[in-house]
Amino acid sequence: MAEVVVVPDPDTGGRLAARTVLDTVRRNPEAVLGLATGSSPLPVYRALARLIAEEGVDVGRVSGFALDEYVGLPPGHPESYRSVITREVTVPLGLSPDRVHVPDGDPARADTAGEAYERALAAAGPVDVQLLGVGTDGHIGFNEPGSSLTSRTRLKTLTEQTRRDNARFFGSVEEVPVHCVTQGIGTILRARHLILLAFGAAKAEAVAAAVEGPLTASVPASAIQLHAHTTVIVDEPAASRLTHLAYYRHAWANKPAPQHI
Ligand code: F6R
Repeated sequence: MAEVVVVPDPDTGGRLAARTVLDTVRRNPEAVLGLATGSSPLPVYRALARLIAEEGVDVGRVSGFALDEYVGLPPGHPESYRSVITREVTVPLGLSPDRVHVPDGDPARADTAGEAYERALAAAGPVDVQLLGVGTDGHIGFNEPGSSLTSRTRLKTLTEQTRRDNARFFGSVEEVPVHCVTQGIGTILRARHLILLAFGAAKAEAVAAAVEGPLTASVPASAIQLHAHTTVIVDEPAASRLTHLAYYRHAWANKPAPQHI
């Protein structure tokens, strides 16, 4: 069962996840980080950048793998996940750009981008900590409802709901690409530790379905139930539809080890 941690606000959740990522890097200076884009992990990256600077941690040999990329945005488009990862992660954290990987979203290579990414992931070794957001439709990565629970990195079509949700990053929904290359659910599950972050009432249903609903390809995020080490960090609004909320609070408050995920 996933550990659910309810935090008062996204910044507190970001600090909690960042501390875990930093501890992982201290233990293994060649750690492999799984990087989500979108709004949910931004507090983690902000906290991590601060901690790395304050504590003088060497991240020169850390690698990163993004979850996904849009297909067909012009190179350098500010909302391509390559650009977002550079802006929000690589530069502020001081990672080596050649160790930060994003799937290839060039339409000319979209068919083979998945296999190439799987090879790069396999060569780097398992991801140590995988950050995840969740879509309002229950997607993780861009594995939309119906995605195989054993899927690998591949070309996928975004749902209209996801395109509408992500229109806030673009001028209009028409400008949101229709296709993406995303790590598969099977790919994501190979990481050693999954940290799923969700904030705000719009995520409440998806969080409840992921954590407590039946394991089903109709809710790709429910695949976290298959993983032995998953931490779900949510604020009160995102936690509001969880049935066993009292138990999660009790378990966290009485955790035998210190308050550490
Ligand atoms: C992003 C990704 C998506 C997002 C999800 C939530 O790399 O794979 O699964 O995590 O769409 O997005 P936000 O955090 O913007 O609500």
